[in-house]
This record gives sequence, structure tokens and C-alpha cells, in this order.
Amino acid sequence: MVKIAPSILSADFARMEAGVRLAEEAGADYIHCDVMDGRFVPNITFGPKMIRDLRRTTSVPLDVHLMIEEPSRYIEEFAAAGADIISIHLEAERHVQRALSLIRSCGCRAGLVLNPGTPPDALPFLLDDVDLVLLMTVNPGFGGQKLIPAVLPKVRIVRDMIGPRAVELEVDGGVTPKTAALLAGAGADVLVAGSAVFGAPDPAQAVLALREAQ
Ligand code: DX5
Ligand code: ZN
Repeated sequence: MVKIAPSILSADFARMEAGVRLAEEAGADYIHCDVMDGRFVPNITFGPKMIRDLRRTTSVPLDVHLMIEEPSRYIEEFAAAGADIISIHLEAERHVQRALSLIRSCGCRAGLVLNPGTPPDALPFLLDDVDLVLLMTVNPGFGGQKLIPAVLPKVRIVRDMIGPRAVELEVDGGVTPKTAALLAGAGADVLVAGSAVFGAPDPAQAVLALREAQ
């Protein structure tokens, strides 16, 4: 059964606790928190304080996706704020193995993210250092975009690279009941969904529809 990680990027930022509650009641496995710096991606969202404040409102694991330049500068702060998973982009960090080790040494699960155009060649050399691989299925920065179909074969390739290891394969961007079926079929374990959950009239129903998509 795939896990569902609703992205609070699509929630009402003025009522974030309500958004988290909605995701929780819908049966979210993780709460996906999109941190953007206006440099690595054109958009700006929130920082460690949001994670610290959300931590007090829920016991669902916080899946923190850092879309920021040189994320190693902020790993300790996000860990101290209560992140469970911290994912960093391969494209944003010069010494990525060191940054992944730092995430683990802070007591968090370490995630490595690849943009749609980034080949997964480096992955076999980093698999000992990751607990999760996150494949972007859109260019990061905004919710509500369409999935880029060329990423589907990459999901399969990365699934094979991971093999029997206890590394989760997460996908992010353009997840709908239709694409969820393709992504799960290609080997994804965790589906991030923003607009498909928070834009739905019934978010709980939407989470169920994504989970059961075949
Ligand atoms: C995009 C973010 C996603 C975003 C997905 O940069 O990383 O997590 O919330 O939104 P949807 O599901 O609407 O494509
Ligand atoms: Zn994300």
C-alpha cells in the first residue's frame, strides 16, 4: 500500500493548524512541508519556525523538503525544530554525502531529491547514506503543475537501483488519482499530493482515492 504525504503548500497559510488537522484526519502518513528560499526555486514559503509550531500540533511525521541553496546551513535548525525526515536537493549542495550524514547525525531520516532533469547516476554511490529518495515529477517551486511524463521511466530505474534496501521512494508533483496509479505501478512508495488533497471537496476521500489508485 502506498503512503500519502499531503503537502501543506496547498493549504491556507493563515490557518496552517487546520490544514494539518485536515491531512491528519484524512489518514496522512507524512505531512509534507515545502521550504522554499526564492533562490533555488522562484517561490518563498516558510522556515524552521513553521516546523517547530506544527510539531506541537501533530504526531504525524513531518517530511521536510528543503528547496533552498546549500541546505547544509540549516539542517541542524530544522532537526531541532522537530523534522522527522529532511530531504535535500542534489543540485543545491556541493558536498551532498556530508550533508546527508549530518541529517542522520541529527536524528532525522535523510532524503535525497532529484529534479526532473537530473540523472540518477550519483545515487548508487549515496544509497548507504539515504533513507528516502524523492523524485520530482514537476520542476519544484509551485503546486498545481502537471506531472512530466518523462520522469516515469526514471522512477522505475531508481526503484531498481534501490533494490531490496530499506530506502523509500517518494514522488512529488502533479499527483492525481490518474498519475498515482502510474507512479505506484512504476515503484513509488510515497506519493506527495498538494492540490489533489487540499483542492478536493473532501480531502479524506481524495487521500483514499490516491491510495487505492491502480
Ligand atoms: C513543488 C512542491 C510540491 C507541491 C506539490 O515544488 O515540492 O510538494 O506541493 O503540489 P501538487 O501536488 O499540487 O503538484
Ligand atoms: Zn515538495
